Amino acid sequence: MKKVLLAFGTRPEAIKMAPVIRALEAHPELQPVTCVTAQHRHMLDQILGLFDITPEFDLDLMQPDQDLARLSARILENLTPVLQQVEPAVVLVQGDTTTTFMAALASFYLQIPVGHIEAGLRTGDLKAPFPEEANRVLTSRLARWHFAPTDNNRKALIREGVPRDRIYKTGNTVIDALHWIQGRIYRGECSDKTQELLSKFSRPFILVTGHRRESFGHGFESICQALKTVSENHPDMDIVYPVHLNPNVQEPVLRLLNNCPNIHLIDPLGYEPFTALMGYSQLVITDSGGVQEEAPALGKPVLVTRNKTERTEALDAGVRLVGTDRDAIVSEVDRLLNDPPYYQQMSNAANPYGDGTAANQIAAILGDEL
Ligand code: UD1
Ligand code: UDP
Repeated sequence: MKKVLLAFGTRPEAIKMAPVIRALEAHPELQPVTCVTAQHRHMLDQILGLFDITPEFDLDLMQPDQDLARLSARILENLTPVLQQVEPAVVLVQGDTTTTFMAALASFYLQIPVGHIEAGLRTGDLKAPFPEEANRVLTSRLARWHFAPTDNNRKALIREGVPRDRIYKTGNTVIDALHWIQGRIYRGECSDKTQELLSKFSRPFILVTGHRRESFGHGFESICQALKTVSENHPDMDIVYPVHLNPNVQEPVLRLLNNCPNIHLIDPLGYEPFTALMGYSQLVITDSGGVQEEAPALGKPVLVTRNKTERTEALDAGVRLVGTDRDAIVSEVDRLLNDPPYYQQMSNAANPYGDGTAANQIAAILGDEL
């Protein structure tokens, strides 16, 4: 059996790695070994529990408001002995976090080949998203296998000189995860907690998330002002906002939005209740990468509180960039809520991120090549 070590640490990496772990478990010649950095703790554990993943190695590295340099150094230092002990045939990393890049770098130093899942996303601006654009570009330089979700991503890698025969267009594993969780929801296998949460929000509602570092400070204040105005303009609607645990997000959101009667600030949700809520929402306001991919697949219009996106495939057909400007956010929400044909057009996006077989494709490619 060839060992495939999956290194990940945050909520979105866990969601997008879970289907890959399952696909590798089902492969006759591959043995998955999971190592979590726990760059996130609570938000990671929510996902590990849902997908029934017990990591073989848990580096437990989260610290409150940890800076990027310290986190990076600790990942390199703590992951290296695990790689030396396991001696995997390949290390798989996902996406663009500090864990992604540092796990790729630690593997490179030990001359272990790296497979990059969700490769080739680019804004072309190292400052947005920060530091994720740099993490992606640098991980691509180190990877042997590049699993690109879309044709645009494949072309971006070719433009950077990645050999064509090392790029595999597989779709995004987030669609595999979404299909799995939707299956549970449609079969009525939702937990009581999810049912209870859904029953709390019987009026039409907007679902909100946000956590981008480049928006800390003024950007977040402006998004909060916009949400406040939206809540006043639409008293018949609710705004449901599971607030990211980063203290730089918690502080402005709780300070500015705590006393608005139709804004519900809640703890980060498990993947099942979150996707169930998204399914019932009118529209989504977010800066999240994963949510930008899931919402069009669920037929939900998305307003993205960023100026640039690396996920251009659904732009104008369901996804609209609104930045962090208060007036731009308010007027785009008003337009969506007051113009039914426009709303309809924005709800009919085709899902450009694959057919839910990305994880099986990745396992099959590794099985053939290792
Ligand atoms: C990280 C990733 C970002 C990804 C996002 C997904 C980097 C640099 N950033 O951002 O790319 O889109 O995760 O959510 O890799 N915290 C907790 N509990 C948790 C998680 C976070 O308390 O379960 C708090 C801690 O104080 C922690 C802080 O949030 O130090 C920041 O976490 P960190 O992983 O560095 O950055 P995120 O903003 O979560
Ligand atoms: N998500 C979740 N609970 C929440 C908010 C988001 O399970 O309260 C899921 C969401 O469905 C998506 C992922 O977390 O799959 C996105 O994570 P995040 O926005 O933290 O990171 P990004 O995708 O921007 O890197």
